[in-house]
Amino acid sequence: MSGKFIVIEGLEGAGKSTAVATVSAWLEARNAAFIQVREPGGTPFAEALRDIVKGDWEEQVTPQAELLLMYAARVQLVENVIRPALLKGTWVIGDRHDLSSRAYQGGGREVDAKILAQLKQFTLQNFTPDFTLYLDINPEVGLSRASSRGALDRFERSKIDFFKRTRNRYLEIATEEENISVINAEQDLVNVQQAILVALENRWPA
Ligand SMILES: Nc1ncnc2c1ncn2[C@@H]1O[C@H](COP(=O)(O)OP(=O)(O)OP(=O)(O)O)[C@@H](O)[C@H]1O
Ligand SMILES: [Mg+2]
Repeated sequence: MSGKFIVIEGLEGAGKSTAVATVSAWLEARNAAFIQVREPGGTPFAEALRDIVKGDWEEQVTPQAELLLMYAARVQLVENVIRPALLKGTWVIGDRHDLSSRAYQGGGREVDAKILAQLKQFTLQNFTPDFTLYLDINPEVGLSRASSRGALDRFERSKIDFFKRTRNRYLEIATEEENISVINAEQDLVNVQQAILVALENRWPA
């Protein structure tokens, strides 16, 4: 049997890394082989691209350049790590995937959705996650959680309106498309974890 690709999405500080641990524990309990990956990154080449996109530059970083690097990193990860794992029957838990580009670059940076769809088609064709957990949070709450962890990167220092547009796009897409479950990430951690487990059990009943 082939593995399944589960993606965790959400704004900074929504609790994605924490959710990856919850999904991992669920897969361990089912004795499923799995790996964890994160975007941008997950291969040596893609991690180098991550350092570039998250880094601080004296020059303006254009939305176009940022977008192309995100898709470059993504296709490296999918072709070299995710697809081979799934073919072997290994499940993959992704900390962010294509939905992040559609929300951040599409909603936040206001890049035309048609361009994003073309880039997705060019790089990944019809490759798509089996299930996405979108952790929904007010950006002010998420950023205050993230900032308690340390210095903020180039994205995290964006204006609050950028994150509001990003959140709105996440919610729009989650409402329109199948296989995306919206989790209220402002709840206490135990309740978030419970909601994640319920969503997973609904998607893959024991
Ligand atoms: N439901 C919750 N309630 C309160 N605090 C939480 C909750 N979930 C996670 N946290 C805490 O908030 C911080 C951010 O969580 P986490 O690192 O999982 O978020 P993230 O979405 O992975 O962030 P980033 O986008 O920066 O990687 C951590 O200190 C974590 O312990
Ligand atoms: Mg994280």
